[in-house]
Amino acid sequence: MSYLGIDLGTSGLRALLVDDDGSPVGSVERGYQVSHPHPGWSEQDPADWITALDAAVAELRDSYPSFADLRGIGVAGHMHGAVLLDGTDTVLRPCILWNDTRAHGEAEVLDATPRVRETSGNIVFPGFTAPKLAWVRAHEPDLFGMVAKVLLPAAFLNLYLTGDHVGDLSDAAGTSWLDTGARSWSDELLAKGHMRKDQMPRLVEGCLPAGTLRPEIARRWGLSRPVTVAGGAGDNAAAACGIGALNEGQGFVSLGTSGVLLAARDGYHPAPETALHTFCHAVPGRWYQMGVMLSATDSLNWLSRITGARPADLTAPLGEKLKAPGSVRFLPYLSGERTPHNDAIIRASFTGIGVETSRDDLVQAVLEGVAFGLRDSFEALKSAGASPDRLFAIGGGTASNYWLKVIATVLDLPLMLPAGGEFGAALGAARLGMIADTRCAPEEVITSPAISEGVTPNVSLKDAFETAYERFRAAYQPVKATQ
Ligand code: XUL
Repeated sequence: MSYLGIDLGTSGLRALLVDDDGSPVGSVERGYQVSHPHPGWSEQDPADWITALDAAVAELRDSYPSFADLRGIGVAGHMHGAVLLDGTDTVLRPCILWNDTRAHGEAEVLDATPRVRETSGNIVFPGFTAPKLAWVRAHEPDLFGMVAKVLLPAAFLNLYLTGDHVGDLSDAAGTSWLDTGARSWSDELLAKGHMRKDQMPRLVEGCLPAGTLRPEIARRWGLSRPVTVAGGAGDNAAAACGIGALNEGQGFVSLGTSGVLLAARDGYHPAPETALHTFCHAVPGRWYQMGVMLSATDSLNWLSRITGARPADLTAPLGEKLKAPGSVRFLPYLSGERTPHNDAIIRASFTGIGVETSRDDLVQAVLEGVAFGLRDSFEALKSAGASPDRLFAIGGGTASNYWLKVIATVLDLPLMLPAGGEFGAALGAARLGMIADTRCAPEEVITSPAISEGVTPNVSLKDAFETAYERFRAAYQPVKATQ
């Protein structure tokens, strides 16, 4: 038996085949474009996702004979995107993505609407789904009138796979239309966003069956037995399933384009005032909370672009031994910030530059600034009652051991690096497909990978980093307040 995990990412789709003990068999990737028709806009054509999925599956099928024994599929998707369908399931306009900030005005209005934060458990961030629909209502009213269904990206793939409008709770929690504590659509929130429940997909838990693969697709893919399609998950919940972050105390820090600090929660403990995200997990009765910073490796990549040096060549001169924090400070807000500031307008800055400042000093300041941003998220998590005593570290930025040492010291927390292999959202999605098909207990499948290396805080530099973090906190000046 085999299971398929699909990770619908922002720059491409990854399809991973695993065997019946969850071990990876093989994976295939297909890329697609993001278009930016105006500054701050970010869109994708959902047809490109289907093309990528069909091409990736065709290659998997031709490369791995065990594909023929496929029993379950799970889809993980980038969150918050709005796919608008008419009454015949025709896509009405390009999908407005999670990193599109055109709806910041609409988000502000909805966020200030009584009971919206209280019921959804979250700030209405500009990237969330409800403000996108408010924007369409204001700027594309004819099209808004034709909207019969709104699907998140993963639910759109569920529709393609099963023929049914069905989404999962972890993804639905990022819309601002869900009662996140009750795990159901909120008629009140929908009405406040000028939407109706009949425009929403049916919701299931991520690890439970959403439907069966359409016979027409099964034939095309060369499959003769029924294949279960799981509810699936938003990409962060799926990544948590891939790394085994299921129970209170388990979590990860992800150093990708954006930075995420995520902790699994046994209960529902919303803390919107901290700009934490509080979402349903992909397993019943569990939630997770995360702080999201928008420019993590993106900050180093920016320095790489303007200096013409590769990120690895920028960090290598810092060596292996952790230095005390430098006098240059970097605020990592190149694209604005979600946690803790919810500020789409703020931009990044360096301070404390002198004639003696070198390129290495700027690199060190960037690594420290990102670590301090993650500390902000960690403080928010702690104030909501989460207390992980160690975290997995994942994502491209973990290639720099120096950066990991800075983060471990700034968080005062040991970091664990997973041993090579699979532990991401595609694995999490495949695991959801397996649980939905076999109906086994989620804990049996959602386990943690082996640890290749641990990075511990540097005790002798802890106080120096604490003082530098306090200065970092004091340096944030909201642009809105000074204009
Ligand atoms: C989470 C978020 C991103 C997207 C894209 O709130 O906006 O992590 O899911 O990965």
